[in-house]
Amino acid sequence: MELLPLFLDMQDKPCLLVGGGTTAARKLSALLRAGVAVTLVSPHLCEPLARKAEAGDFRHLGRDFEPTDLPGNRLVIAATDDREVNRHIAELAGELEIPVNVVDDPDACTFLLPSIIDRSPVTIAVSTGKASPVLARLLRTRLESLIPSGYGRLAELSGRYRDRVKARFSEQRDRRRFWDRVLQGAVAERIFAGQFEEAEAIIEQELAPDALETDMGEVYLVGAGPGDPDLLTFRALRLMQQADVVVYDRLVAESILGMTRRDARRIYVGKQRNHHAMRQEEINRLLADLAKDGHRVLRLKGGDPFIFGRGGEEIDTLAAECVPFQVIPGITAAAGCASYAGIPLTHRDYAQSVVFVTGHLKDGTINLNWSALAQPSQTVVFYMGLVGLPVIVERLMAQGVSPEMPIALIQQGTTQLQRVYTGSLATILDVIASDPPQPPTLVIVGEVVKLREKLSWFRPPDEPTQGATTPILE
Ligand SMILES: C[S@@+](CC[C@H](N)C(=O)[O-])C[C@H]1O[C@@H](n2cnc3c(N)ncnc32)[C@H](O)[C@@H]1O
Repeated sequence: MELLPLFLDMQDKPCLLVGGGTTAARKLSALLRAGVAVTLVSPHLCEPLARKAEAGDFRHLGRDFEPTDLPGNRLVIAATDDREVNRHIAELAGELEIPVNVVDDPDACTFLLPSIIDRSPVTIAVSTGKASPVLARLLRTRLESLIPSGYGRLAELSGRYRDRVKARFSEQRDRRRFWDRVLQGAVAERIFAGQFEEAEAIIEQELAPDALETDMGEVYLVGAGPGDPDLLTFRALRLMQQADVVVYDRLVAESILGMTRRDARRIYVGKQRNHHAMRQEEINRLLADLAKDGHRVLRLKGGDPFIFGRGGEEIDTLAAECVPFQVIPGITAAAGCASYAGIPLTHRDYAQSVVFVTGHLKDGTINLNWSALAQPSQTVVFYMGLVGLPVIVERLMAQGVSPEMPIALIQQGTTQLQRVYTGSLATILDVIASDPPQPPTLVIVGEVVKLREKLSWFRPPDEPTQGATTPILE
């Protein structure tokens, strides 16, 4: 190891920062976050520094650096845009044995400022030594995505209970088991979900003299998005890697399922048109029973669980039976498919509102308020509308929507199998006749579909460049 990592207590300790540009501003932010008493020397200040000076966040000496500025400081940072001046400051600081950092000049530094992931009081510092600050920043970004923002609260809570836990469990082994349960289980999850009182209540329960280890698990109702794994949320990914049972349905892509814990038990409850692997009531029951058996259950659903996902029904049973749960939103098909097809759902010139409806056929018809859907300057998105497409086209035109109204069908949106069919209400059935789209397919009706011609950007490898995608701009 080339450098010794240290965390210094610099609260209210004096530090000299020389420079008034944006680099100095970045260094100043890091110093102020750690409570350092900064004196900044520079005849000029960039805009963010000037604002902070006005707010009294640091002491400003509005002139060039002088050697007499150095004595008494615990750290020095040379951040001017003049390499020679920076080197001179470093030399003088070295003579006084004050640690010095020089921007963009690792050889002149006696200490480096690492890239920081701040979940105070949890602080993670990343350094690549003098090799590559850019790589350190890249690593930091990766870690940021893995470490929930609630970690600070969790650490703070753990700190508050430390003495009581020590008093309650005399054996170190028992203490460790307790903290494992708290830091990886229901308490941590409550904190990350912003339920601080509930988190504390669980700790109190577990610390009670007559406490039994509770067996209650938890259900995570997670939206897996429309297909592209990159569209998962950080929280979804974390819970996917934590759950020991995965209950998933047909719309969850294989690549996303592959990101769940390897040793997790997987239960398929998928629904296909006219073929249900498990009835909804059975799924609701299954989730509650698994959690009551102590499992951390991931209920993984395509898109968003609360948009045509029956998520409400599933948690209704859990709520009624006091099974803890949390709901993690996903990118719904309308948002994902529209973005990946280059069709903005609203647009100042074409659509001031957007409506999501189900186009599910029941007894050969679709029970919707068609006159409301036929309003001008509106985009209508039909989920489950592929089979009922002839009915959709017919009913919209019967309500006076122009046969020229643009329409798009997006098959397997956001995935490598995405395919977009465009036409008008009058032509779309002919467009798809010889090569119909496969489910899942989303239907978008509205003037905004025209914009695809200009705004399309996503190019899955097998999408035909002509043919199915019919240009509709004049
Ligand atoms: C039962 S709904 C589930 C919707 C999901 N909860 C959501 O928020 O996206 C299923 C319908 O969503 C649409 N859908 C879901 N994923 C899709 C995708 N990747 N591409 C196109 N349509 C999709 C299709 O219309 C499909 O019939």
